[in-house]
Amino acid sequence: MKNTVGFIGWRGMVGSVLIQRMIEENNFDNIHAVFFSTSESGKPGPNIQGSNILQDAYNFDCLLTMDIIVSCQGGKYTDSTYQKLRGLGWNGYWIDAASSLRLHEDAIIVLDPINLQEMYDAINVGVKTFVGGNCTVSLMLMALGGLFFNNLIEWVLFSTYQAASGAGSKHIIELIRQMGYLYQSVSDNLEKKQCSILEIEKIMSKSTQDINFPKQEFLAPLAGNVLPWIDCAVQDNQTREEWKVQVEANKILNSNYMIPIDGTCARVGTFRCHSQAFTIKLKKDLSYSNIYDILKEQNNWIKIIPNNMHSTLNLLTPFAVTGTLNIAVGRIRKLKIGQNLLSIFSVGDQLLWGAAEPLRRTLMILLSI
Ligand code: HSE
Repeated sequence: MKNTVGFIGWRGMVGSVLIQRMIEENNFDNIHAVFFSTSESGKPGPNIQGSNILQDAYNFDCLLTMDIIVSCQGGKYTDSTYQKLRGLGWNGYWIDAASSLRLHEDAIIVLDPINLQEMYDAINVGVKTFVGGNCTVSLMLMALGGLFFNNLIEWVLFSTYQAASGAGSKHIIELIRQMGYLYQSVSDNLEKKQCSILEIEKIMSKSTQDINFPKQEFLAPLAGNVLPWIDCAVQDNQTREEWKVQVEANKILNSNYMIPIDGTCARVGTFRCHSQAFTIKLKKDLSYSNIYDILKEQNNWIKIIPNNMHSTLNLLTPFAVTGTLNIAVGRIRKLKIGQNLLSIFSVGDQLLWGAAEPLRRTLMILLSI
């Protein structure tokens, strides 16, 4: 009998990418899919396994009949539903994109190219809750997994360049609006030969202070700007986004000791790929060919980009990676400022490996056991 799988938040950005990937991989063939909605129950659902009617995402009688629930609805939904459902005796598998349950003792953070064995071990001891990691964490581990696995890393310092998508779909739209606003503010002047570039820049920068400049979502201009603050403040002057990296990465790696990982997270005006620069303190000196092999062998999605201008500009950018499962890894350099310090730049799609793909693959793993 086919497993009944309930999808909640399938219309949002992460949910849509998940559904799209499942269609591409024919993953709906082996399940009975039920689509839920928090606001439009009773209306027609997506035409994936023929027509269907959306179920109420707060109808616990219906949720209780699911073998597996996949939620991309966000933390508020998880907070209001998960414990209650478990309390009612529901013992199915819960797969979640939100961060709420990541650090629960009885939940595992899923990234199967990195922790497949831990996932199987967890399934064997009855773990039922599987949560996708924060996007920067998953993308970092996909890029540097080989170095972590071979116990070569003493510590990691990161600087992130995170896309608008990480903040949500409205933020992408606002970024595009901001870009348009900046252009409109100077478009006439661009045609005038006598208008100097300094004047153009001044008009454009000033336009970001207009009352109509669109910044309801980001609270600041992102187009033409960098916002070195993501999420709320936590202790020790970190943002929550920065705090998550060490905590979640070490949980995924299941390491015996806490590998120090810290850095600065910044939002940049890209659309759906997160980039990250890493400074890595290696435990020993490695040759370049050794480093390439160790990185490449860890998973099939890593693309090592040669350290030259042409390859970097064409292959190691958000536009080069967007919409693909590739993890581009380049600018690999031994730094001159100290012993065994390695610099790496990496780009990955925030919605694929950063969010939807680990969840899709978890669903397939759970269906295969
Ligand atoms: N917190 C991330 C971001 C989203 O803001 O980019 C990915 O989990």
